[in-house]
Amino acid sequence: MNDFLSSIGRRGLFMLDPETAHGLSIKALKSGLVPSCAPAADPRLVQTVAGIRFSNPLGMAAGYDKNAEVPNALLKLGFGFTEVGTLTPKPQDGNPKPRIFRLTQDNAVINRLGFNNEGHEVAFERLSAGRLNGIVGVNIGANKDSADRVADYVAGIDKFYSVASYFTANISSPNTPGLRDLQARESLAVLLSAVLSKRDALAAASGKRIPVFLKIAPDLTEEGLDDIAAEALEHDLDGLIVSNTTLSRAGLKAGPHNGEAGGLSGTPLFERSTAVLAKVRQRVGKSLPIIGAGGISSVETAIEKVRAGADLLQLYSCMVYEGPTLPSRIIRGLSNLMDREKVSSITELRDSAVDKWASKQLD
Ligand code: FNR
Repeated sequence: MNDFLSSIGRRGLFMLDPETAHGLSIKALKSGLVPSCAPAADPRLVQTVAGIRFSNPLGMAAGYDKNAEVPNALLKLGFGFTEVGTLTPKPQDGNPKPRIFRLTQDNAVINRLGFNNEGHEVAFERLSAGRLNGIVGVNIGANKDSADRVADYVAGIDKFYSVASYFTANISSPNTPGLRDLQARESLAVLLSAVLSKRDALAAASGKRIPVFLKIAPDLTEEGLDDIAAEALEHDLDGLIVSNTTLSRAGLKAGPHNGEAGGLSGTPLFERSTAVLAKVRQRVGKSLPIIGAGGISSVETAIEKVRAGADLLQLYSCMVYEGPTLPSRIIRGLSNLMDREKVSSITELRDSAVDKWASKQLD
């Protein structure tokens, strides 16, 4: 019945432009119209990563709930965690519409939203107003017109310290001009020092250490990955999210929106983001947590990310195509897979395909 309803809902949403459909789906989640479909807890899926206990490894990626409107409703869909944002200190409109495009022939999305969001204050009020029913990460970024981008990230840590389960510093959106330059080694060193010293100061004052993850692009070169891995280890970062959307258009089937500017996500991102994930795992060693994102659409793609080195997973685009029952189907599928493979924790499956994925050429 859930599948039937969600298929009707999906057909209706697909008649609308993607941004209107997104707004309606947030309204539906807010109103409680989307039934809770979280599978029963499976202790084998529990993961403790960066000191946080996740009831299962699958999270909602940033960009869906930019303004922290529906974290509890997303957790009810079965996600083990959700990430709000990207949030910038001041509210901003983002780029002119239309700015989200469905590539239905490829199960993909191109977006050039440009960090449209209501800003720190509004999101903070929402997050602190009610009880959060699970792990909620806060993804922080910089305003487009900011004179000091590093200061914007530091302000994010400061503002959300009391409500965030973890932070993600997003330096990999392709839609804010120059933002990805923060991935260059010297800039990254400055950013990480500033962000992590603010975190350390707040941890000392509050007695609570909130982990900070860094979210990177899939469009980095081998040398770029060397630099990021070295800085992550040097600064004692808590983890990496691999990856954001890609500028590449490789492998797309013919469709009307392929030429749109912006970041591509969904199925065509799977290969590249998984290869980059494995290359990062090789560089950082076994213990640094990595969250794998990019093209997860099924239990098979989810577990392949784990085999390529991920501790935790996130998805967004394929839920547009598969509907709100996708997370619970993947979670149930992971439990079934563990029955079949007779493993007691998904950590046992981690890294088994790192070499295979890491050997892929980045073009
Ligand atoms: C995103 N993504 C994103 N990431 C981020 O760190 N901050 C953001 O504000 C957004 N916004 C955003 C909007 C839209 C419409 C999409 C489709 C994506 C990127 C997202 O979190 C994720 O990293 C990628 O989309 C790859 O995962 P999927 O979508 O292939 O599962």
